[in-house]
Amino acid sequence: MQKVRDEEKRRAVRETYGRIAKAGAAGCGCDCSPAASGYSEAERRGLPEGADMALGSGNPLAIAALEPGETVLDLGSGGGIDCFLAAGRVGAAGRVVGVDMTPEMVSKARENAAKAGAANVEFRLGEIEHLPVADASVDVILSNCVINLSPDKPAVYRDAYRVLKPGGRLAISDVVATVELPDEARGDLARHAACVSGAASLAELRRFLCEDAADTDSYPRMDARRLHVGVRVSCGRIIEAVKPEA
Ligand SMILES: C[S@@+](CC[C@H](N)C(=O)[O-])C[C@H]1O[C@@H](n2cnc3c(N)ncnc32)[C@H](O)[C@@H]1O
Repeated sequence: MQKVRDEEKRRAVRETYGRIAKAGAAGCGCDCSPAASGYSEAERRGLPEGADMALGSGNPLAIAALEPGETVLDLGSGGGIDCFLAAGRVGAAGRVVGVDMTPEMVSKARENAAKAGAANVEFRLGEIEHLPVADASVDVILSNCVINLSPDKPAVYRDAYRVLKPGGRLAISDVVATVELPDEARGDLARHAACVSGAASLAELRRFLCEDAADTDSYPRMDARRLHVGVRVSCGRIIEAVKPEA
């Protein structure tokens, strides 16, 4: 029964973002405004037209400290805004991969990449719980207002851990629940798809990241000392973590 419910949530999310991609609309329905997202004017100006769809809850690049040559993965890349910004920072020697489960979004992001002539960015269709990405191949994972939409958040963090290289980093902006949401809100598909009712609490996030992500004895857990969860933007939360070297 829970699996059926999870599939309904995925379908609602896919339909919502498919519509947004086709309409070229701005905003997902939560209160995050473009002004609150933390991108500078210079960052916005450099984007291909149509990439900034005002769907993020913050600016994960602000904490990612990207270096030239790094490989970056963006979970739920939408129209590609953070991928294009990351591409400029990692340069021609680096690589950026965006993964999104909504076919219309992936098409839109690919059109945007063609417009921008961005040769070091690619977009793959897939679910962030089952990433189409090789083990230990990524330096930095970005995500912006996406993981709240997943019906299986522990699976997202487990797969993120799998694809990160030892020492790899997570830099995530997402909506976090600061109060217990009533069941009625939790079960509302429209609010779920609008990034309102699917959010995990900080305590749940800490558990998913630091305890559940590495679930075998042969893998070290995420380094809790380096996990930082704090308020950096008005409506979203920033989550940083580092996969230990060994
Ligand atoms: C609120 S939008 C954010 C898009 C982008 N990160 C941005 O900041 O503009 C959420 C995106 O995540 C995608 N998405 C949601 N759940 C997903 C999942 N489980 N796997 C892959 N993509 C997902 C949606 O299709 C949509 O494009």
